[in-house]
Amino acid sequence: MSFAEYSEEIRDGDVAIVYLGHESMMPVKVRHGGQTQTRYGAIRHSADLIGQRYGAKVTCSKGGWVHVLHPTPELWTVTLPHRTQILYSTDIATITLMLELKPGSVVCESGTGSGSLSHAILRSIAPTGHLHTVEFHQQRAQKAEEEFAEHRVDHLVTVTCADVCKDGFGVAGVADAIFLDIPSPWEAVPHAKIALKAHGGRVCSFSPCMEQVQRTCQALLAHNFEEVETLEVVLRVHEVRTVSMPLPDFGPDAPATPQAPPLPASNHATVSLKTTTPPREMPAHTGYLTFATKPRT
Ligand SMILES: C[S@@+](CC[C@H](N)C(=O)[O-])C[C@H]1O[C@@H](n2cnc3c(N)ncnc32)[C@H](O)[C@@H]1O
Repeated sequence: MSFAEYSEEIRDGDVAIVYLGHESMMPVKVRHGGQTQTRYGAIRHSADLIGQRYGAKVTCSKGGWVHVLHPTPELWTVTLPHRTQILYSTDIATITLMLELKPGSVVCESGTGSGSLSHAILRSIAPTGHLHTVEFHQQRAQKAEEEFAEHRVDHLVTVTCADVCKDGFGVAGVADAIFLDIPSPWEAVPHAKIALKAHGGRVCSFSPCMEQVQRTCQALLAHNFEEVETLEVVLRVHEVRTVSMPLPDFGPDAPATPQAPPLPASNHATVSLKTTTPPREMPAHTGYLTFATKPRT
């Protein structure tokens, strides 16, 4: 198992995602002799997990069952321990697309936070790319480094504990893309320019407030970035369900032959159909995504 590469079989040391239901999943560190309690009873790692195929249905000690899934960045995002606010997959998908991330890309990121975005970046740039991620909070930087090793993606990432606004990303002229999720991204714009390759690259900054966006756009333009654009991604998930609708009553049918009595009108006829309904509630604002291009110099 690695967060960047699929394996068939669950092994000792893996991080597996235990799926209890659509809204209920948890990550489990698989250990010989280990046990995990669920509402369906205990899962014994040696007997129930190690050697099983990912996706297997595992019966717990009280007779209930769970599915054990291979980890992905998307599953990690909804199960990871929060040390900060995190980015979710809707924003992450747009960031990945608009930063043009692909295998081999070199990316700089700050701050690392809880590593939600970092895992998605690592999966996109593997097996030959590299992520330079900067986090000034020492415990967060250390915890992220430990997780990258546990998730077997540490060869793809360098974690630096520093203030990106003062010290930059610790690299120059190597990055294809830069991502910022910090309170004052405009202060990191000059460092982003230094870190990007001479033949240019892409930048994205995530900010919850429009005042942050304004300052970032000003800084990007002052440093000769081009194609500056800000967007917000709003997700509407439609629910698939069965609905019953009353059939309109147009009165009794005409008799089949002029002599036959008219058929009685069916009063309460309904039709049942599968359809989708738009969400009654939607996730609120997450943040604005500002993108820009550094032109070739
Ligand atoms: C909102 S979190 C990032 C979340 C991350 N994008 C994720 O998806 O998990 C912001 C992080 O930036 C860090 N940070 C803020 N300002 C910074 C700076 N100037 N240099 C480095 N890290 C910084 C904070 O300590 C925090 O961990």
